[in-house]
Amino acid sequence: MSDDTITASMPIFPEVKMNIVTPKAPVTGTVVKSEVCLKGGRKSAGFVRHVEIDVSGTPLEGQCRAGQSFGIVAPGVDANGKPHKVRLYSLASPTCGEDGEGKVISTTPKRVIDEFTPQKDGDDPEKHELFLGVCSNYVCDLQVGDKVQVTGPSGKRFLLPVEHDKHDYIFMATGTGIAPFRSMCKDLFEHPSGPTTSQVHVVMGTPYTTDLLYDEFFCELEEKYENFHYHKAVSREKQTDGSRGLYVGQLVGQKYDEVFGPILSSDRGLMYMCGLVGMQFGIYQLFAEKQITDAYMTIKDELKDVCFSDWDREQMRRYIKPTHRMMVEVY
Ligand code: FDA
Repeated sequence: MSDDTITASMPIFPEVKMNIVTPKAPVTGTVVKSEVCLKGGRKSAGFVRHVEIDVSGTPLEGQCRAGQSFGIVAPGVDANGKPHKVRLYSLASPTCGEDGEGKVISTTPKRVIDEFTPQKDGDDPEKHELFLGVCSNYVCDLQVGDKVQVTGPSGKRFLLPVEHDKHDYIFMATGTGIAPFRSMCKDLFEHPSGPTTSQVHVVMGTPYTTDLLYDEFFCELEEKYENFHYHKAVSREKQTDGSRGLYVGQLVGQKYDEVFGPILSSDRGLMYMCGLVGMQFGIYQLFAEKQITDAYMTIKDELKDVCFSDWDREQMRRYIKPTHRMMVEVY
């Protein structure tokens, strides 16, 4: 990128190493912790764990940065008799690792458990047996002391900028999409040179209060730091004032003028989204409504003359590209 394209609000991102360990030659880590990540008395059918893996002595030691992901290769073979492909999991650990020395990385796997539903042409429409995701269930089953094949790191865009305090942050998550924001908030507030002075907002969306992952960690940050703000968008429960449940996009819309708008429309605002595929679309339309698209999105000509309320998902997927101030990781 040439210098004349750099503006005051342009974040500079660090150079990161990627794929030091490739799926062709994974290295062996050891599980050192596995605990339930959901609160007791859970209401939804999901199972999510917090799993820590010791990668000391491997090339991954000290090389995983907040916001990146790493790979896990489940043992065994797939339906075609080929070794299982690598699956990516977001780092929940800070850049210095859970241990402070980059030796222990962590993630937040959610078990994929469902009834078989046809996905592609040729799938038997009558088949409806139990469907268990291969790698997520493998990782959630692992016990402390078990060995696990890992790869990575991956991702060079979903990162914190080099100069933390030059920007303010809105982190928007659904479900396990909160993992990288635990990781980034640890980098921002537990940094050896002191906690960030930036405004940091985490918006977490879940169906029920009991699904709020790492809720204690974020509540503690909010208690401790005036510049940290934690917003919970719980969709299937009534709010304390008796109003209906909220999705993340609705919460951002409701608090836009008072909370998010001033940050997003200033030069300092950075927007990050992580979680379910589709969560970005409501935000694209909200940003268009609030006329802040230039900073956050490049809209291709095909969509420029279409009113934002008429954009459909396929159009947004094809014709909207986030800029350097909007980081999107959905899966
Ligand atoms: P597996 O791959 O075996 O099955 C899922 C696939 O099967 C789906 O892709 C779909 O094609 C098909 N399928 C799904 N439901 C079906 C049904 N009912 N019937 C038939 N077929 C069905 N996950 C997580 O838990 N925590 C995390 O932090 C992250 N982070 C992350 C970061 C990035 C960058 C990416 C790209 C992805 C993640 N993921 C994740 C998702 C993770 O990589 C992985 O996709 C899930 O854990 C599911 O993997 P399994 O091997 O368990 O499912």
